[in-house]
Amino acid sequence: MNLPKKVTIVEVGPRDGFQSIKEWIPTDLKLYIIEKLIEANFQKIEITSFVSPKAIAQMKDAKEIVSFLLKKYKDKQEIFHALVPNLYGAKAAYEAGLKEITYVISASVSHNRANVRRSREESFKELKEIKTIFPKLKVKFAIATVFGCPYEGDIKIEEVKWMIQNALDIGVDEFCLADTIGVANPLQIENVLSELGTTFKDINFSLHLHDTRGMGLANVLAALNQGITQFESAVGGLGGCPFAPGAAGNIASEDLINMLEKMQIQTNIKLDTLLSIIPIVKEKIKPILTSHLAYADMQCKTGEKNG
Ligand code: COA
Ligand code: ZN
Repeated sequence: MNLPKKVTIVEVGPRDGFQSIKEWIPTDLKLYIIEKLIEANFQKIEITSFVSPKAIAQMKDAKEIVSFLLKKYKDKQEIFHALVPNLYGAKAAYEAGLKEITYVISASVSHNRANVRRSREESFKELKEIKTIFPKLKVKFAIATVFGCPYEGDIKIEEVKWMIQNALDIGVDEFCLADTIGVANPLQIENVLSELGTTFKDINFSLHLHDTRGMGLANVLAALNQGITQFESAVGGLGGCPFAPGAAGNIASEDLINMLEKMQIQTNIKLDTLLSIIPIVKEKIKPILTSHLAYADMQCKTGEKNG
């Protein structure tokens, strides 16, 4: 196998995870969890999203979240970024003080319409405006539904290439390919990455995977073998797009980190600190988590207690 020595993990639980929870999560609790993630040493955290509160009410405290963290972690500001769906969101993120955003457009026309109520062309037009108005704002371009769409099924690779080329022309800084609903399989990951890697030799893609059908870590393995060294994941395996029927959690950060470290691939994340957040996430946010390691860890601790 062709494995890297080091991998960067982007923690997206505070965005992808929290957005999938209907019941209001108090801002203090969100911040408590984000601070624990900082303590666990994540170098990149998607802390919130600047979206319409009518679309996702859970994210309505985005400004407060950003303002608290930027004030408290003055020397670590590059850790934080937020997702935005349009120019309005980019402006709000920039004004809140963020230096980096994730801008999402779906490869599928129908999912883009359901998610951000725009055609892909309209979304690209706003991306271009963002780059023109805020040239210093770093933009990670995330392509949703690359490996399958809840409305359209399979996505043609030509559609993905068209999107990448558009974003290259606009001048985005990074690229992330998302399996929004967790339908990808390892062979598909290998084929798509190998094809995109041949066409776009200079791009270091990152991957955003969901574990809906239990293929998340197998997909990571296939991606590592294709030279991918950056993955997005969520604490506890939280996650899911409210505008994609059947979407479930991201790959769990602790499962991913545990697998990588066991394979001698460095992540520099403190797994014990990360696991220490799980009981709070379980108690206060979601009682049933899909994380394997969190379950194993809790079973071991209960076993120890019972003698
Ligand atoms: N943040 C907050 N408010 C926003 C906003 C943003 N990024 N973009 C627009 N708005 C506000 C407008 O000011 C307007 O407010 P008003 O009703 O008080 O006048 C209202 O939302 C409608 O604006 P419009 O541009 O017509 O938006 P829309 O209703 O077509 O919705 C989006 C488009 C993109 C704002 C909305 O679909 C959205 O936020 N989607 C996010 C989906 C998401 O987060 N998915 C999961 C992550 S991939
Ligand atoms: Zn996601």
